[in-house]
Amino acid sequence: MKNESVLIVYLKRKKGLLSASGLLSIASTLVQFIPYYCIYRIIELLMVNQYSAASLMQWSLLAIGSLIGGMVLLYVSSMCSHVAAFDILYEIRMDILAHLSKVPMGYFTEHASGQMIKTIDQAVEKMESFIAHQIPDIVSAVLFPVVYVVLMISIDWRLGLVSLIPLIIGLLLYAVLMGTTMKNNTVKQYHDALEDMNSNGVEYVRAMPAVKVFGLSVDNFKRFHESIENYRSLVVEWTKSFRTGYVLFTTLITSCVLVVMPFGAYLLSQDPQNKSLALTVMMFVILSSGTSAPFMKLMYAASTFSNVNEGVKRVDEMFAVTEVVEKDSGASFQDNGIQFDQVSFAYTPGVPVLQDVSFALKPNTMNALVGPSGGGKSTIAQLLLRFYDVGSGSIKIGQTDIREVSVDTLMKQVSFVFQDVTLFNDTLEENIRMGNTAATQAEIIAVAKQARCHDFIQQLPQGYETKIGEHGVYLSKGEAQRVSIARALLKNAPILVLDEATAYADSENEVFIQQAINELVSGKTVLIIAHRLWTIQHVDQILVCNQGRIEQSGTHDELLATSELYARLWHINSETKDWGVNANA
Ligand SMILES: Nc1ncnc2c1ncn2[C@@H]1O[C@H](COP(=O)(O)OP(=O)(O)OP(=O)(O)O)[C@@H](O)[C@H]1O
Ligand SMILES: [Mg+2]
Repeated sequence: MKNESVLIVYLKRKKGLLSASGLLSIASTLVQFIPYYCIYRIIELLMVNQYSAASLMQWSLLAIGSLIGGMVLLYVSSMCSHVAAFDILYEIRMDILAHLSKVPMGYFTEHASGQMIKTIDQAVEKMESFIAHQIPDIVSAVLFPVVYVVLMISIDWRLGLVSLIPLIIGLLLYAVLMGTTMKNNTVKQYHDALEDMNSNGVEYVRAMPAVKVFGLSVDNFKRFHESIENYRSLVVEWTKSFRTGYVLFTTLITSCVLVVMPFGAYLLSQDPQNKSLALTVMMFVILSSGTSAPFMKLMYAASTFSNVNEGVKRVDEMFAVTEVVEKDSGASFQDNGIQFDQVSFAYTPGVPVLQDVSFALKPNTMNALVGPSGGGKSTIAQLLLRFYDVGSGSIKIGQTDIREVSVDTLMKQVSFVFQDVTLFNDTLEENIRMGNTAATQAEIIAVAKQARCHDFIQQLPQGYETKIGEHGVYLSKGEAQRVSIARALLKNAPILVLDEATAYADSENEVFIQQAINELVSGKTVLIIAHRLWTIQHVDQILVCNQGRIEQSGTHDELLATSELYARLWHINSETKDWGVNANA
């Protein structure tokens, strides 16, 4: 997108349609003057008493015809601009989404989703109204005054100049008004406040369960409350600051006739016998009553322009976020071993989350990552998937740095089950199929059985066709997790990462899922992140992660003997396990 604003880039792509719309709008503006001329001729005919029914009819028909013609031209012009606008909207949105899929995941944690939705939705929508309505409007609104002034002055320069006085004062006033708003940064403040309110609103809705449980109200949700208040006062202030100026502006541009009439009467009183002067005055009275609409359009165009500008800036900012560098050097992975080499990483600069993490997972082995909460386990998994790039050090799969291959290649190598499962608003079958779009239904059912979700899926009235989420059913966390395990199994990649994948499963299902995983993982490198240590005690290697470091590694028995932390965790674990078993007994 270089330095050019998105809007300009996309407008250029639709040059043809937009120019057609502009030209048609010009034609329609010019045609708008014909009825005035017809009325003028009719009055003239009447005044000189030389009219015939036919000549009157002729002028009337021309007036009506040109009115209709003007409307048709305007209609076609706005069709052109609308088609261009909706095309541009579609392209911008698709491009933003494509772009967002390539920016580092960190962008999404730093930017509230409410804010992004507002940009993609409303800021882009405003461009629609700008392109579809304002571009033709601006063309005609700029042209109209020019033609108007030339016409007025050429008909009678004295009356012409006088009739322009209120318009000029009105426009100057408007310019001053807009200037003050711009200088005070009000438009930016307005958008900031709106964005703030949006993202706090989303957060509030998300936190609704907690809000209810603790009996809180909107008032308690201080940030949301404040952002609404702030928005309200800003809008009220803004509106108030416009009040006087706006009233004066509207009054002035609609009052040309009030200046033209007395001045015309004065001119006529100087030369009462001058019929053509009387006709001219009449013409001015008629014409000056129709000036306000185009000037109002000009004003609306100017105000939406500043609105759109702010939205465009935000879209530009989104496009400006650098994408993850894909260096695809054509390298491939020699095997499915994983190596972390002195990896350090921080989400926020200055707050290191991982420090000097080094470990190796041999190809086709089962490995576990354990340790206290917040130690950095999920972070290690996310770095392996290149959700973020390492601060320093390197991550290699099969001797190849993961930054040397395309994200696509990396994703083919690794399948994963996240700690926070995301299911899409689609059928269960499609949710599983995401692991491998070419899978047959039989394959899907097979993995569903292995992941222990076949039974509950079958019990749903629509089985695998059941839709998830909005307007569909909701699954329990354990069920959702099992669906996502099925998805990962179906993907059948050489590396499998499971982050607390069975944390919500009940003991019975957990055992079965573990068994299924054990059977399926021959020929895969597996990394299991787990809190319940008994589920991983037989793996080939256990890494103990604590406070951003790998403290120790080894087998279960080795660690019990050498790692104080592991022994302690194991001890606590067995106690809770026994407690659980006893409680069940
Ligand atoms: N997106 C993020 N932005 C900033 N800090 C983060 C982010 N995600 C995690 N952290 C911080 O990084 C540290 C490690 O988090 P991580 O999720 O890797 O821990 P974990 O070992 O997986 O914990 P748990 O066992 O509870 O899942 C924590 O201190 C956490 O606050
Ligand atoms: Mg975690």
